[in-house]
Amino acid sequence: MKVSLVSTPPAELPVDALGVAVATGQRLSGGALELDRALGGVLSEMIGSAEFRGRIHEVLPVPTSVKAGPRRVILYGVGAMRDLDGQRLRSAHHELIRASRTYGYKRIGVVRAEPPLGMDSLKAVVEGCVMGTFERRSRQTGAQPERREIEELVLTGFGLGREHEVVAAKENGEATNRAREWQNAPPNELTPEALAQEALRIGQRHQLEVEVLGPAELRAGGYNLILGVAGGSANPPRLVRLRYRGPQQAGAPVLALIGKGVTFDSGGISIKPAENMSQMKGDMAGAAAVLSAIDVIASRKVPIEVMAVVAATENMPGPSAQRPGDVAVSADGKTVEIVNTDAEGRLILADALTYALRSGATHLIDLATLTGAAKIAIGHAATAAVSNDDKFWDLVARAAADSGDRVWRLPIFADYRILLRSQIADLRNAEYGEAGTILGGMFIGEFAGGKPWAHLDIAASSWNTNTELTTVLRGPSGAGTRLCIELAELMSGAER
Ligand code: BES
Ligand code: ZN
Ligand code: MN
Repeated sequence: MKVSLVSTPPAELPVDALGVAVATGQRLSGGALELDRALGGVLSEMIGSAEFRGRIHEVLPVPTSVKAGPRRVILYGVGAMRDLDGQRLRSAHHELIRASRTYGYKRIGVVRAEPPLGMDSLKAVVEGCVMGTFERRSRQTGAQPERREIEELVLTGFGLGREHEVVAAKENGEATNRAREWQNAPPNELTPEALAQEALRIGQRHQLEVEVLGPAELRAGGYNLILGVAGGSANPPRLVRLRYRGPQQAGAPVLALIGKGVTFDSGGISIKPAENMSQMKGDMAGAAAVLSAIDVIASRKVPIEVMAVVAATENMPGPSAQRPGDVAVSADGKTVEIVNTDAEGRLILADALTYALRSGATHLIDLATLTGAAKIAIGHAATAAVSNDDKFWDLVARAAADSGDRVWRLPIFADYRILLRSQIADLRNAEYGEAGTILGGMFIGEFAGGKPWAHLDIAASSWNTNTELTTVLRGPSGAGTRLCIELAELMSGAER
């Protein structure tokens, strides 16, 4: 999809459909009002008569009579202004594009609305629209239904000379979609080795330093928690590091983006029930997000040093699988009692944090589909998070707001620490009895070496399975991708 900026009056824009955002209880203004006048007031009439209310995801094409202008106006709702944030704004544009595709429109225009929430909407509009072009790659054989793609998105009223912002927003949207594509990939295709290959491709594209550790190197480095989780699999694990060194000053922060890359989580010996087990192909969403993010960070040459670390493995039962009751020694020397082999994410991330620290990271953020409890706590509408550092957290929260990638911080109370204790080892990996999302995060935090660290539990936000929760993207969302890009930019000072 080509994206361009123009200053053409809306009524003269030669597109198949021209999008006009409407918030509930709000009148048209600016370019939309101008367009309404040129159309004899039909838009304000439809809004005034409540035929179109502006509810989020409401979309209505309106035929026009103008020659050499838009063939249709397409009203789209953004919901109530007071509810509008970056995530809902992107979601509304996602829906505008999805609807436009079903109607078969090829050239879509969008008229700039007054900045919602005081924020400039160009980035959100482009990111949301690009995300709306997402189509899962089909593996069906035989005749495929004709693909309806948008060819061009024309933005009017946003100002000219903002091409670099458009390019950046487009990259962010495409990176999100790439993460979504990986989440969707079948687990026999996207194995740990295949995930490492994707990382290698990104590294080659930007001439990054790449290190891929296989079983032998993992043994040499003492990464026993990763090896333990991988024990039951025929497909060997990979611990991958991509290192991007942007132009930066000495003593500047080194940001590590660390992703959980469990390409299939059967639960291991603590095996999961059959129902919905196929959803566990998406247990590498954290890895997908950090790989997609560093691809953009490197191509945009953000002036900061960033590494992406991916712990890629399957979690399978088998004759050499680890057992509940096993005690493993982590790469940083702590002993861990494996109480439940299905709590594998925190194990591999613990070793991945050690690897990042050994590689010189000063700030750590991990992204992981870690706990089903995240869905219980806050549902699919946001990522659940914990952090050990208020200053670093402020940056993460700002990155979330600026990227429309919601996070919500849960507390770490000292009282919870006792729940991580084991009778036999330094830590246990499960059976805390409560606060599952927090404790999963706290376990990982034990391996942060006292450095500023944040943990994003994307178990629910990366894949909305609730068909009734319709204003949150369905299926794979690429959660965390744009947040990581934004965080690197904020930390580089490029946006200060
Ligand atoms: N990958 C799962 C978490 C998950 C659940 C992600 C649902 C997406 C959707 C994780 O490895 C897991 O199994 N967590 C356990 C932890 C428990 C054993 C402490 C869980 O949440 O039940
Ligand atoms: Zn898992
Ligand atoms: Mn698990």
